[in-house]
Amino acid sequence: MSNLLVVYHSRSGGTQAMTDAVVAGATSDEIEDVDVRVRRAPDAGVDDVSWSNAVVLGTPENFGYMSGLMKDFLERIYYPLLDKTVGLSYALYVKASTDGAGAVSSIERILTGLHWKAVQQPFVIVGDVTAEHLEHCHDLGMTMAAGLEAGIY
Ligand SMILES: Cc1cc2nc3c(=O)[nH]c(=O)nc-3n(C[C@H](O)[C@H](O)[C@H](O)COP(=O)(O)O)c2cc1C
Repeated sequence: MSNLLVVYHSRSGGTQAMTDAVVAGATSDEIEDVDVRVRRAPDAGVDDVSWSNAVVLGTPENFGYMSGLMKDFLERIYYPLLDKTVGLSYALYVKASTDGAGAVSSIERILTGLHWKAVQQPFVIVGDVTAEHLEHCHDLGMTMAAGLEAGIY
């Protein structure tokens, strides 16, 4: 059994919809040997990351950065986990209204410091969430879980 952790923040529902699709993909019938844990950013911590074999992070872009609560999560885990989670596989999704690049780069900078390994391109939705977007999120979750199941991550 491998463990996949999903940590996210959403204030107005966009990232929540993405998260629901990611989790649906990761827990779909095709996936049998992956335990999926979903945590809102304020409820996630060192124990959750230590438990996991791979992590998926979802955040809105706020003020050209990740959301404050996602930053708080990363602040709380950074030093306790520094050098302890080297090579941990992760994927990232972002909900923005006009851009998204600042959220991606701010998270990537911190995860580079932790030496986590991006195993998919960040997925950014700018503007309204469409069915196609949610399908992509579903695939993102399923790919992460399938990669764990296959022992790739
Ligand atoms: C305080 C605040 C700041 C925001 N700053 C940005 C921004 O810098 N760039 C952007 O593209 N969208 C920005 N937005 C829009 C949000 O990213 C967008 O509404 C997103 O869908 C929110 O995600 P959520 O529905 O999961 O809360 C901002 C929204 C808020 C409330």
